[in-house]
Amino acid sequence: MGFKVGVVGATGAVGRTMVEVLEKSEVPVSELRLFASERSAGQTLTFKGVQVKVEVLTEEAMREGFDYLLFSAGADVSRRYAPIAAQAGTTVIDNSSAFRMVPEIPLVVPEINGKLLKGYHGIVANPNCSTIQMVLALYRVHDRYHLHEIFVSTYQAVSGAGHKAVVEYERQLAGDTTHAVFPRQIAHNVIPLIGDLKDDISQEEWKMINETRKILNSRSIAVFPTTVRVPVRVGHSESVVARTLFPIMSKEDLVETIASGEDVILHDDIVTPVEVAGDDYVHVGRIRLFDAHTFGLWVVADNLRVGAATNAVRILKLHSQLNSDLVFESEATEVEGR
Ligand code: A2P
Repeated sequence: MGFKVGVVGATGAVGRTMVEVLEKSEVPVSELRLFASERSAGQTLTFKGVQVKVEVLTEEAMREGFDYLLFSAGADVSRRYAPIAAQAGTTVIDNSSAFRMVPEIPLVVPEINGKLLKGYHGIVANPNCSTIQMVLALYRVHDRYHLHEIFVSTYQAVSGAGHKAVVEYERQLAGDTTHAVFPRQIAHNVIPLIGDLKDDISQEEWKMINETRKILNSRSIAVFPTTVRVPVRVGHSESVVARTLFPIMSKEDLVETIASGEDVILHDDIVTPVEVAGDDYVHVGRIRLFDAHTFGLWVVADNLRVGAATNAVRILKLHSQLNSDLVFESEATEVEGR
């Protein structure tokens, strides 16, 4: 017995990573279907040694009914096709921004608010990549000391803007400095704007402001982001300064609190994107306690995995565990070993 799973946007930067992460996970997949636009018709991707054909996305296919569909083909595609799939009884895990701020739709980082998945069926929203790694680094501090203000500057990899963005970056590295995806040249440069501006704040910054509050279930957290694109292929970095309502006991306690977060790894030494690309953890370094209410840290994670595909597969796993008797092999071993 296994799940019928589909990936929509399977040829994209995140979609391909979803297939890879799914392959390495212990999720039992009995049938995998891959969807993209007509541009990809005829392409194949390998899953567990088998060549799987990429199909053109259609409403008819979405009506078929799947156990899980993972979407990463942009907000317009999600808006059109995800409700059709959900209507047919499929649990949709959507990586786009289409449904994230819809009040009835859970916005899930499993380590933080995975309990929302119990008894839930329909569309589940996967948060923005920069938000996921930041809240994973901070959620235990919020539990213990109540976060009040977060000032964050991001250093975001080009792959976060999709496959075409990586191609443009590589073209520029080779000497052609024209640009179409990014608003300026990105090779050998940094660009302090991600998405269009609304009231002086960029789309990416609005996502960090609103999604952080929804995931941490707090309307009072004020987030002050500056989101910046940097010439890094994979791996987002963030410089975070946060303030707490309650005084932090000591630097040691702060370090222990952050380290108690699931899937969080602390570093005494500096940590950089090339070192973490390809893994499934949030890496935290440069922890500083400036005063009893104010601390700083550096957070790095693979944006395609932790910030997108791995989070989506973790949602799938937890959803299936919470809503059936399924126990995955690694958990069974863990329980035995305790
Ligand atoms: P395709 O490769 O056929 O264009 P990225 O985020 O890396 O740009 O990837 C976007 C993904 O979404 C790709 O797999 C792309 O397929 C897919 N996609 C984009 N537009 C559509 C569409 N209208 N219908 C189906 N898939 C789409």
